[in-house]
Amino acid sequence: MAKSADSRPPKPARGASAPATTTQAEEHEDELRALQAARGRVDALRTQIRDHDYKYYVLAQPEIGDSQYDALMRELRELEEEFPELLSPDSPTQRVAGQAAEGFAVVEHREPMLSLSNVFDREELFAWEKRMVRLAERDDFTLVCEPKIDGLAISLVYRDGRFERGATRGDGFRGEDITQNLRTIRTLPLVLDADPDTLPAAFEVRGEVYMSKAEFVRLNEQRAEAGEQLYMNPRNTAAGSLRQLDSRITASRRLNLFVYQLGWVEGERPASTHSGSIEWLKSLGFPTNPLTEIFHSTGEVSLFCEAWVERRETLDYEIDGVVVKVDDITTQRVLGAVGREPRWATAWKFPAEQAVTRLREIQVSVGRTGVLTPFAVLEPVFVGGATVSMATLHNLDHIRELDIRAGDDVIVQRAGDVIPQVVGPVLARRKGDPPVFEMPSECPVCGTAVHKDPEQAAYYCPNRNCPTKLARQIEHFTSRGALDIEGFGEQRSAMLVEQGFVTSLADLYDLPARREELLAVEKIGEKTLDALFEGLERSKQQPLHRLLIALGIRHVGSETARALALNFGSMEALRNASLEEIQSVPDVGPIVAEAVHQYFQDPEYQAQVDRLAAAGLRMDEDVSARGGILEGLSIVATGSLEQWSRNQVEELIKRLGGKVSGAVSRKTSFVLAGEGGGSKRDKAEALGVEILDEDEFIQRLRDLGWSEGE
Ligand code: IVH
Repeated sequence: MAKSADSRPPKPARGASAPATTTQAEEHEDELRALQAARGRVDALRTQIRDHDYKYYVLAQPEIGDSQYDALMRELRELEEEFPELLSPDSPTQRVAGQAAEGFAVVEHREPMLSLSNVFDREELFAWEKRMVRLAERDDFTLVCEPKIDGLAISLVYRDGRFERGATRGDGFRGEDITQNLRTIRTLPLVLDADPDTLPAAFEVRGEVYMSKAEFVRLNEQRAEAGEQLYMNPRNTAAGSLRQLDSRITASRRLNLFVYQLGWVEGERPASTHSGSIEWLKSLGFPTNPLTEIFHSTGEVSLFCEAWVERRETLDYEIDGVVVKVDDITTQRVLGAVGREPRWATAWKFPAEQAVTRLREIQVSVGRTGVLTPFAVLEPVFVGGATVSMATLHNLDHIRELDIRAGDDVIVQRAGDVIPQVVGPVLARRKGDPPVFEMPSECPVCGTAVHKDPEQAAYYCPNRNCPTKLARQIEHFTSRGALDIEGFGEQRSAMLVEQGFVTSLADLYDLPARREELLAVEKIGEKTLDALFEGLERSKQQPLHRLLIALGIRHVGSETARALALNFGSMEALRNASLEEIQSVPDVGPIVAEAVHQYFQDPEYQAQVDRLAAAGLRMDEDVSARGGILEGLSIVATGSLEQWSRNQVEELIKRLGGKVSGAVSRKTSFVLAGEGGGSKRDKAEALGVEILDEDEFIQRLRDLGWSEGE
C-alpha cells in the first residue's frame, strides 16, 4: 500500500519488528534497515523478472509458469508501493505508464535514418552488386540477408546500459519521442544484460516495431465483440498503437520488436561487421531476427529471396521483402549513400500478395454518370493484409480478355494501400464451360435500354432520372471534395430518391422546408436532421470551384474545376463563355472544354444552376489565392492525417497556391505522409524526395508565414 499523504506514522515495514515503545531515532533506524532489505529484494526481483521476460518473449522458452511470474511481479509491485523511493523508470512494473502524454516531443536523429532502394528480381540484384563492385573496387562481398519486417522503423538510445529514449523515424531527420510507449514492448530491454562498465557510454539501435498476425486477429476479435470498427492490417494497427498518447493503450496492444542495425556508438564499436554488431546486440538481450543468413554471392542471395516469397506465409508476422546488406562496415562507409539510400544495402521486394478464392458472381453497378461497371462478388479472402470480398472488373473488354466467368476460382491480388484486383481465373479448376459474361441490355436499376459509348468501352444508362444515378450524384454532390455536407451517405441518398424527396440536386436545399414529412418517413432523429440542415446551410458558402466539382460535369475533376473557377471568377462568366474561351484556360483540353460548354447549354442543367443560385449558394471564387505561400510547389499527400481529411488538406494546399499531384516523381517538392501512406512514401524514399509528416507540414507552413485558419 502506498504511503498516504497524511501525517500518520508509516506502518512498520515487512520483516521489521516494531517494539512497543521506541524512540524516534530507533524508529528511523528500523526504517532504514527495512529500506535496505527491500532494496536488495527489489533488485533481485527485477533481475529475475527481466530474465524471465527475455526467456519468454525473446527466446519463447519460458522457464516458469504464469502464476509464478505473476507472484514475482506482485511482490515487486507491492515493495515499490511501500517504498516509492525505490521506484525507477526501468523497473519491469513501469512498462505501463499511468499518465497520458500531451503530445510527442520532436527528436532530431544524430544520424539520418535512411531508407532502402528496391530490387524485384535477380537481374536487378546483380545490377545493384555490379555498381558496388565498380565503386568499392572489389567483388568479394559478404552479404547478410534479413527478412524485411513490415512494421515501423524506430531508433533506440541506450546510455550507461539503460534505455534512455526511443523515437519514430519521422522524415528520417526528425522523429517523435515515443519512449514511454516503447517501454511497454516486452521484448525491448530496459536494462541491458551486461556490466555497464564494459559497454560503450551510449549507442543507438535501430529496428522495426510490428504486430504479430495472431495479435492482430486477437485485437480484431475483441473489437468485433465490442461492436467496434475492425482494423485494416497489422502494420497500420502497429503504427496507430505506437502513436497513442496514452501508453496504457499501447501496452494493451502487445507490440513486438526486432532490431536490425547498430547506429552511432559513443566509444568503440563492438564489431567491424554488421553481423558481428547484431550478435553483440543479441548478447545484450535485444530481439534479433533468427532467420538472418550470410551469403557470399548474389546468386545464393537470389535463391534465398525467392524461397521467402512462398515461405513468408508461414511466419507469424508480415514481411514485404528481404533486406540484403554488405556485412563489412568499412566497405559500407566506402560505398556511402545516394540521396537517402545507402548503396551498401537494398530491399528485394516481394510481388503483391495473391490468394485464390471463388468468384460467386459478376454484378453491375451504376455510377453517377450512368456508366455501368461490372464487379466481382468474391468469397471473402484475407490477402495483402485485408479481407477482400469485392473487386472491380473495370469493363467488359477486361473481363473478356482475362476470360473471367462466374463460378471460377480466381486469383485476387492486393498490395499495400492499392485496391484489390482480380488477376485472372485458375483455368485448371474450371468445371465445364460456364457462360461468358454479357453486359445487361437494360439498366439493372431502372430498366432503361443500355447505350454503348462507341469511343470508350463503356456501357451506360441514359436515363437522367435513373434513381441510383441520382443517389450517386447526391453522394458526390455532398462528398468531402465537393460541397462537403455530412450525412448524405449511400442509404440516405437512396432513400431521398426513392421517397421522391429529391428528383434534382437542387431539391436538396428544399429539404429543410419538408422537415415534418422527413421525420414521418425516415427513422431519423430530430438532432440528426438538424445537423443535415446545418450542413446544407454551411455548404452555401463554398467557393465556385467546389460547386463545379459537385455538379458532376463530365471530365471536370478538382484540378479543372479550380482552373475554371480561378479563370472565370464567377458562374455567370463561365456560363456565358464560348467554347474557345473555355478551351483557352490553361490545363483545359478540347474534350473537357466541350463537356463543360455542353453542360451549360443544356436547359435542364441551366434550370438546376438557377435554382441553386436562388437557394443562396455562392457563385463565385476568391481569385486572390493566386500567388500563395506554396506557389510553385508540387505536393503529394498520402495516408490518413489527424486534423484534416485528404480532401481538406489538398484544398488547403491549393488555396495556398500549391499544386496537388497524385503521383510522386522527381519533380515533387515534398510528400505529406500521414499514417499508412505506403507506396507513395516508398516511392518518395526511393527518389530521395522529402517526406513530411503532419506536424512537420504544419511547421513548414508556419515557417512560410501561414497562420491557422487561413
Ligand atoms: S535496414 C540503411 N533492415 O525498411 C538501412 N530495414 O525501406 C536501413 N526494415 O525504414 C534499414 N526490416 O523500417 C533494415 N531488416 C531490416 C528491416 C528494415 C524492415 C524497414 C525499415 C526501413 C525500411 C526501408
